[in-house]
Amino acid sequence: MSALLRVSLLLQVVSCQVRVNTEDYAWYNSSKILKCQADTGEEIKQITWEWQGGGAKMTFLTYRNDTGSILQKSYENRVKFKGDGNKDGSIEILNVALADEGIFKCVFTTYPSGTIEGEIQLHVLVLPIVTQELKQDVTTPCYNLVAECLASSAKPSAEILWIIYGINYTSEEKTFPNSNGTLNTQSQLYMTSSPGLYGLLIQCLVFQPKIPVEYQKNITVTKNLTNIQFPPQMVEIEVLKNDKEALQLLCKSDGNPRPKYNWKRRNKEKSVLLHSSSETLNFTAAPDDGLYICEAENNVGVNRGYIYMHPLKSSSRQRYGLLYCIISVGFFVILSMSYFIISRNRRIKIQEKIVALYCRK
Ligand SMILES: *[C@@H]1O[C@H](CO)[C@@H](O)[C@H](O)[C@H]1NC(C)=O
Ligand SMILES: *[C@@H]1O[C@H](CO)[C@@H](O)[C@H](O)[C@H]1NC(C)=O
Ligand SMILES: *[C@@H]1O[C@H](CO)[C@@H](O)[C@H](O)[C@H]1NC(C)=O
Ligand SMILES: *[C@@H]1O[C@H](CO)[C@@H](O)[C@H](O)[C@H]1NC(C)=O
Ligand SMILES: *[C@@H]1O[C@H](CO)[C@@H](O)[C@H](O)[C@H]1NC(C)=O
Ligand SMILES: *[C@@H]1O[C@H](CO)[C@@H](O)[C@H](O)[C@H]1NC(C)=O
Ligand SMILES: *[C@@H]1O[C@H](CO)[C@@H](O)[C@H](O)[C@H]1NC(C)=O
Repeated sequence: MSALLRVSLLLQVVSCQVRVNTEDYAWYNSSKILKCQADTGEEIKQITWEWQGGGAKMTFLTYRNDTGSILQKSYENRVKFKGDGNKDGSIEILNVALADEGIFKCVFTTYPSGTIEGEIQLHVLVLPIVTQELKQDVTTPCYNLVAECLASSAKPSAEILWIIYGINYTSEEKTFPNSNGTLNTQSQLYMTSSPGLYGLLIQCLVFQPKIPVEYQKNITVTKNLTNIQFPPQMVEIEVLKNDKEALQLLCKSDGNPRPKYNWKRRNKEKSVLLHSSSETLNFTAAPDDGLYICEAENNVGVNRGYIYMHPLKSSSRQRYGLLYCIISVGFFVILSMSYFIISRNRRIKIQEKIVALYCRK
């Protein structure tokens, strides 16, 4: 009875004689120091390191004062003895491999008591490679798959969060394993696409919640939602004068892809296509009387802006007076109708000159 007690007391003392982190973490392909310190007054004859995992077990390092450290072949260029050969028996793994996961045991052979040892459970962590991809089929106004974030080969598994301000979204996450024990996580982001989403920055945040906080490394990837497609929005026409005093109409509309423009003039109930397929319509002489139509079009839709041009015989020398009438398509509401004088090189935004009036097509 008292002999048993003495043995168990002795075991407890023995286990306290080597100081290690019983659980430790190392990033894959980084270097890691495994600390091991003996607390003994006795003479240390030898230090050995053992690894065990997956049913296998091997002694890979032996240190003695007379021989220095002797490494097992597969560890030769990967492990360095960092201790002083006395009470410090620490080692450094230069580039941690997935196969290093397991239990490392450092064993001090002391004289006269025999061996004392410490065990370290090493977890190998793999930081995922994160990619974010914008999806191409995002036409307005449907609920679309907008982007996808992939965290590949993480260990332990990764989770994906989306950081998006002020806009509703949903996401779907899937995880699938690789044969080497790492895991891939994919998150798909769905949103109701609208012109307002275009140019929005979205972030995908990848983290590994099962790793102790002090080891966590979060990864964020930011993308600009340039993939949201929408038809040309409000078409605006500006009247300008170029440097040769010639009159120009400039058509502007927002759309993704960027709209292409066509100009038409409505003449006695039929539209005549004008020879300009750019955003500007240049007049070489005084413009013909009539309703000018700017048609902005991309592969998602088309929109139109209208302006009525009516040259005035003005007393004020080289100036034109023009009647403008802009109709917003679809509603046939007149946005603006006013007389004004174009002064030299001044840009005039029709938008700003709002006089409500009714105007027939
Ligand atoms: C391991 O890290 C080194 C640099 O420390 C790098 O050059 C190498 O590509 C990495 N290998 C792998 C498989 O990640
Ligand atoms: C190595 O030598 C030092 C001092 O001479 C001694 O304290 C230590 O115990 C020796 N260690 C080994 C492993 O032989
Ligand atoms: C988000 O969805 C909630 C509930 O469906 C709704 O009440 C809220 O107005 C939406 N917010 C935005 C910005 O669309
Ligand atoms: C694990 O396997 C995956 C898929 O074959 C591979 O892409 C990844 O690089 C591997 N990871 C490591 C740490 O070897
Ligand atoms: C996002 O992309 C749009 C279109 O290229 C650009 O105008 C905008 O400045 C970008 N936003 C940021 C914050 O970079
Ligand atoms: C990583 O992100 C998670 C989730 O947002 C957070 O809880 C954690 O504190 C972050 N860790 C670091 C180191 O930033
Ligand atoms: C109209 O003139 C501008 C220069 O003032 C020029 O850049 C543009 O290409 C011209 N447009 C057409 C259709 O000729």
